Amino acid sequence: MGKIYKPSDLIAQDIDAYLVAHKHKSLLRLITCGSVDDGKSTLIGRLLYDSKTIFEDQLASLEADSRRVGTQGQNIDFALLVDGLAAEREQGITIDVAYRFFSTDKRKFIVADTPGHEQYTRNMVTGASTADAAVILIDARKGVLTQTRRHSYLVSLLGIRHVVLAVNKMDLVGWDQGVFDAIVADYRAFADQIGLSVFTPIPISGLGGDNMASKSAPAPWYDGPILMDWLEDVQVEAVDQAKPFRMPVQWVNRPNLDFRGFSGLIASGAVKPGDRVKALPSGRESRVARIVVQPSDLDRAVAGQSVTLTLEDEIDVSRGDVLVAADDPCAVAGQFEATLVWMDDDPLPPGRAYLLKIGTRTVGASVTEIKHRVNVNTLEHTAAKRLELNEIGLVNLSLDQPIPFEAYADNRELGGFILIDRLNNRTVGAGLLNFALRRADNIHWQHTDVDKASRGALKGQRGRVVWLTGLSGAGKSTIANLVEKRLHALGRHTYLLDGDNVRHGLNKDLGFTEEDRVENIRRVAEVAKLMVDAGLIVLTAFISPFRAERRLAREILADGEFVEVFVDTPLAVAEARDVKGLYKKARAGDLKNFTGIDSPYEAPEAPELRIDTTTIDPIQAAERIVAWLEGELDYEI
Ligand code: ADX
Repeated sequence: MGKIYKPSDLIAQDIDAYLVAHKHKSLLRLITCGSVDDGKSTLIGRLLYDSKTIFEDQLASLEADSRRVGTQGQNIDFALLVDGLAAEREQGITIDVAYRFFSTDKRKFIVADTPGHEQYTRNMVTGASTADAAVILIDARKGVLTQTRRHSYLVSLLGIRHVVLAVNKMDLVGWDQGVFDAIVADYRAFADQIGLSVFTPIPISGLGGDNMASKSAPAPWYDGPILMDWLEDVQVEAVDQAKPFRMPVQWVNRPNLDFRGFSGLIASGAVKPGDRVKALPSGRESRVARIVVQPSDLDRAVAGQSVTLTLEDEIDVSRGDVLVAADDPCAVAGQFEATLVWMDDDPLPPGRAYLLKIGTRTVGASVTEIKHRVNVNTLEHTAAKRLELNEIGLVNLSLDQPIPFEAYADNRELGGFILIDRLNNRTVGAGLLNFALRRADNIHWQHTDVDKASRGALKGQRGRVVWLTGLSGAGKSTIANLVEKRLHALGRHTYLLDGDNVRHGLNKDLGFTEEDRVENIRRVAEVAKLMVDAGLIVLTAFISPFRAERRLAREILADGEFVEVFVDTPLAVAEARDVKGLYKKARAGDLKNFTGIDSPYEAPEAPELRIDTTTIDPIQAAERIVAWLEGELDYEI
């Protein structure tokens, strides 16, 4: 019999001493990977039970349930403890990660329990992204399976370097050392390929508890650690303290004019008063004056601690900036190669603008290219135009401003990010920065002496984009043409970008899939922006079916420069007109991805102008637009 894991005697003797000890215990974040069939629930249930974290009443009902279900005879079915909760969770649309807590005398543990199937990759990624260690479960009867490989790949990808290969159900193979050794050898061959060369194989029986909390009698040949000891002893914290100092600023603490502190969690390294630090991305330097925490200042603080730093000089530091060691700063860049896990039901089209949150900073970002998709089961790379739910891709990312960063492999806090949908705030992806793209290195912004204002002044007008959006056949081109004619007659300098025309040249490589339309509008928005910079009044006539890209166009222009005009024609009316005969083709199935038929149109929510083409004709519509623009266009000094 090995040790018995039980609650500290201190609980009964001196609760205060117990609580103090408990508070100072280290915390291990752990992820368990495997399917229910592999005995994952039993394993977690057993960890909770052996550490006596299960409450008395839970234990009583567990014993009763076990007898009722009868899967384990008179014994306790530990899986029930976990599966009861899992079943509840699986009612929901999104399966989330369940976090369970247990503790022993030595350590506190948080176990991320995630469903094992491929369709839950996103959940596993969520659970693994904060884990220090992973227990990968294998059924001794089945050996290394596709899912073992998938889980291991994700564990490795997310930078978990402490891994147990728990070969479970050893009792069912008669504790045969040959079986165990063969599985370990098989796994090692694979693990080497994905950079998981160090792992600890342990033969266990979740059911009997062998080699979990106590050593197994039936496997005298095994002389490695038992699971609980491994979990208690594995060293994970020291690594981050040895690295250079990094602290993303969570908030600027300014209670009065005499105090200005920068609060945050130290992501890596250590800091002490007098240390030279740099604020990135600005690059300004100062020295740490004080490390303020309650109840009194510290002489030194290390990774994992939340502190407030004051600096000797008044330098400009804002939320989202990163304070770094001045003599060993991290890089600042705006374009990256990244590994991205797609988590949204709607696929990722490259080019769409998202928000990227990294550390405490949020910036605009888009995927400029999908280099390949990784098959998480075979690790094969395949070409991809989009990423679907749970798919992983290697992508290029472009941010709208440079950020301080480190490769995820070096620093999770500064290299791990999530992508957020700008319209509904959903987390749509999670990713890891691999490296900054060199091509961005040597590109600077070149100042030009003749600027937008001077170009506009010469033309006596202010540049604008009048962005017409609506279904095919809504009348956009006709109206835009009339507006341009009218403005031209009024002496304005204009240009009309028309959907069909642009697709003959600049965008002739694009079709009508979602990702091609995203790219179509992105390019048009950029061209329109250049034309506004040239001082022109730009009219655009594109279906531009997606809110996200119209919003991008609005955002890359200055306030007031983007005028969205919704050419509102009901589908039935546009279809009845069918000027180009395309609706007929689409209905007949001869034209795929046709807007309004089998491709969506997202109507504007708050356009500057709405033109109802069922009540006014194109001439009246053009007049209304020109009337709206009047007074907007004159150049004022
Ligand atoms: S957008 O969706 O990318 O903004 P765009 O305005 O450039 O579309 O092009 C729309 C024009 O292309 C339509 O007016 C129509 O003449 C033609 N077209 C050809 N195929 C399609 C399609 N599948 N869906 C919509 N329009 C199409």
